[in-house]
Amino acid sequence: MHAAVVHAFGTPPRFEPFPAPVVAAEHEVLVEVLAAGLHPRVRSSADGSHYTSDGTLPLVPGIDAVGRTPAGELLYFVAPDTAIGTMAEQAVVDRRRSITLPSGTDPVAVAAAMNPGMSAWIALRRRAALPAGGSVLVLGATGSAGRLAVRIARHLGAARVVGAGRDPLRLALLPGLGVDAVVDLAGPADEVGERLAAAADVDVVLDYLWGAPTELALGAVLTARADRSKALAWVEVGSVAGEDITLPSALLRAANVSLLGSGQGSVTTAGIVAELPSLAAAVAAGTLAVDALAVPLRDVEAAWTARTEPGQRVVLIP
Ligand SMILES: NC(=O)c1ccc[n+]([C@@H]2O[C@H](COP(=O)([O-])OP(=O)(O)OC[C@H]3O[C@@H](n4cnc5c(N)ncnc54)[C@H](OP(=O)(O)O)[C@@H]3O)[C@@H](O)[C@H]2O)c1
Repeated sequence: MHAAVVHAFGTPPRFEPFPAPVVAAEHEVLVEVLAAGLHPRVRSSADGSHYTSDGTLPLVPGIDAVGRTPAGELLYFVAPDTAIGTMAEQAVVDRRRSITLPSGTDPVAVAAAMNPGMSAWIALRRRAALPAGGSVLVLGATGSAGRLAVRIARHLGAARVVGAGRDPLRLALLPGLGVDAVVDLAGPADEVGERLAAAADVDVVLDYLWGAPTELALGAVLTARADRSKALAWVEVGSVAGEDITLPSALLRAANVSLLGSGQGSVTTAGIVAELPSLAAAVAAGTLAVDALAVPLRDVEAAWTARTEPGQRVVLIP
């Protein structure tokens, strides 16, 4: 078969012949891969920077995909944590990490939306309880995952959603996605802090940024809450703006904040898989669509570094 193959961290994968994977256990099935998304998490695994990376090369990137079994069943599946990912003509699926999709489901739509959608879906269903009529601040609402987070927060019952981001064009689109208020993160820190303070009275923060914007937001939000003893769940889901923050101890004493994360490890694989059917149903129904750009797998090398439209997600089609 052919696959996208990374030979050195920091270089794009090449489309080349690769040994077909072999089914080795009863719970496994070989599938024809139909669509695999090029998510930020795929890039971080492929450049060796993700926290689950063990440095093995060569590797086939891809953390999830839609595939078809020999019996014609359509599956969405999450790849095992090995060097053999989903950007290949064939993949071995661990049935315990897969769900069956209704026939007729668009593989590209599902491959584009499941990973970015999963972050908010699992954070709100497995990590932070959103109180009835509660409110959510999405830090990084202009990315693929953040835009979906806005719609997912609404879908899961948030009465009020605030979206924070930098890009003016994408910020302007947020009200159309159901955001009640927009916070512009661009500009001088004191002005950004004031804007964040005005959005401080929320129950849950979904944080895709971390780094400098999160340092600013924590300070602004935790000190500006009308009732600082009211519970606030700050859920770390992504780190596009930095891997680390400095957190003054006084801030943790100043407000009733719970700092937690959502991802592989903080939620079991079984817990993640259990959430997938309801998320896939919402994606298939069009409620949580992502702007997908389908690209043939043979063009993976160029697709890896190609500029895409804001919010667009590349999906590779073997
Ligand atoms: N934990 C999980 O389960 C899970 C699942 C899926 C994804 N994630 C993570 O979520 C994050 C976002 O993924 P995505 O798919 O939405 O990525 P994406 O589509 O590439 O969007 C990234 C967004 O980050 C913003 N950004 C980048 N640098 C920034 C900075 N310095 N300050 C403020 N904003 C900045 C950009 O906003 P502007 O356009 O406004 O500049 C951009 O829209 C990634 O870290 C990904 O790994 C986590």
